[in-house]
Amino acid sequence: MLKIGIIGTGGIAATHIDGYLRFPQECEIVALCDVAPGRAAALLAEPSLTSARAYERIEDMLAAEDLDLVSIATPPSTHAELTIAALRAGVDVLVEKPMAPSLEECDAMIAAAAENGRILSVVAQNRFRDDMATLKTVLDSGLIGPVSHAQVSSAWWRGTAYYDLWWRGTWESEGGGCTLNHAIHHLDLTLWMLGAPRAVTSVLTNAAHENSEVEDLSVAVLQYDRALAEVTSSVVHHGEEQAIVVQGRHARVSQPWKVVADTAGPNGFPLPGGDPGRAAEIEALAAAHSPLEHEGHPGQIGDVLGAVRERRRPVVDGADGRRAIELVTAIYVAGIERRTVDLPLPADDPYYRAGTLVARAPHFFEKTAAVADLPGAITVGSSAVDD
Ligand SMILES: NC(=O)c1ccc[n+]([C@@H]2O[C@H](COP(=O)([O-])OP(=O)(O)OC[C@H]3O[C@@H](n4cnc5c(N)ncnc54)[C@H](O)[C@@H]3O)[C@@H](O)[C@H]2O)c1
Repeated sequence: MLKIGIIGTGGIAATHIDGYLRFPQECEIVALCDVAPGRAAALLAEPSLTSARAYERIEDMLAAEDLDLVSIATPPSTHAELTIAALRAGVDVLVEKPMAPSLEECDAMIAAAAENGRILSVVAQNRFRDDMATLKTVLDSGLIGPVSHAQVSSAWWRGTAYYDLWWRGTWESEGGGCTLNHAIHHLDLTLWMLGAPRAVTSVLTNAAHENSEVEDLSVAVLQYDRALAEVTSSVVHHGEEQAIVVQGRHARVSQPWKVVADTAGPNGFPLPGGDPGRAAEIEALAAAHSPLEHEGHPGQIGDVLGAVRERRRPVVDGADGRRAIELVTAIYVAGIERRTVDLPLPADDPYYRAGTLVARAPHFFEKTAAVADLPGAITVGSSAVDD
């Protein structure tokens, strides 16, 4: 029976707890830790957690418990320090997205895992979704032909109060705005499905949140050899219509699911009805997808439990988490410095280092409030992508 600890017992921790509770034959949650006085202890009233113990300092938890795996569900600026502490204590780690605000911190986390022979996984729960897995299978099949264009909409809506939570809305503690904290899901999916671009350009703004330093909207263009991908990262989008639309030479496919396969007449204009054979072949491949046993966080937690037991690489490891941070960093560099940024970002790039973003990013507005907690439930985005 694997012994699990949860570090950070705020909003997303409930999703981790629920995830582990889906695997009662494999693991038990034995420890909870949160720096906010009494917050972890309050959870011990939950019927499923009555035999766990609560801590307010990670050092105390790591010293007192014999843990196999911890989930780290704290603000982004704390991820590196807490992850490295757990790895050095001989504990495997599942850390929430974003992995850390800088590549320097990501590399320190990856090195700590390697040096201590530990497993490090970074949350990317949308890879564990039937619709995303289906889209990836179709793209991998090559049936749509060479990709020419992708439109990726990380479109969310958040009101002003969202940035009043103490750690949100500053480059220092949130690490960035919606590009880092919301679009990281779709940037990870883009890398997973289309691979890494060779260059990035972008524009950042804060269009509607006058109580926050960070961007609430960015538009980036990712350049592949011939293809382009547009990525919109937004928390000003009424209706939260998130989508990935991929155009290939022979067909377009997307999430939400839609297939169109055009063909041209002798004058190059599209023929009515397109290429029904191609469209049918794509639909048949999509229909053959076997539903995942668990989607979202429970899907990833199930994989990480297997990795811990079998001492194998998890589906999403530290290198995957780092790749998404590299792309976010490139989008920030392009927007802040007003230039096209080549990938990979070298380790001597100033933005590789922790602190450069904090020093150089524009403060769109000053943060005006810092409340310890916000009332009300958190909602999930369209098609179960949550933040
Ligand atoms: N995967 C997703 O879809 C998803 C959704 C929501 C949030 N998140 C991520 O989860 C993380 C937490 O977000 P949240 O919404 O739960 O925030 P939250 O503020 O609701 O909870 C964070 C908790 O961490 C505690 N904490 C802070 N520093 C700590 C430390 N050093 N040691 C122990 N506890 C500490 C805080 O007191 C708080 O209770 C963020 O990285 C966020 O981006 C991911």
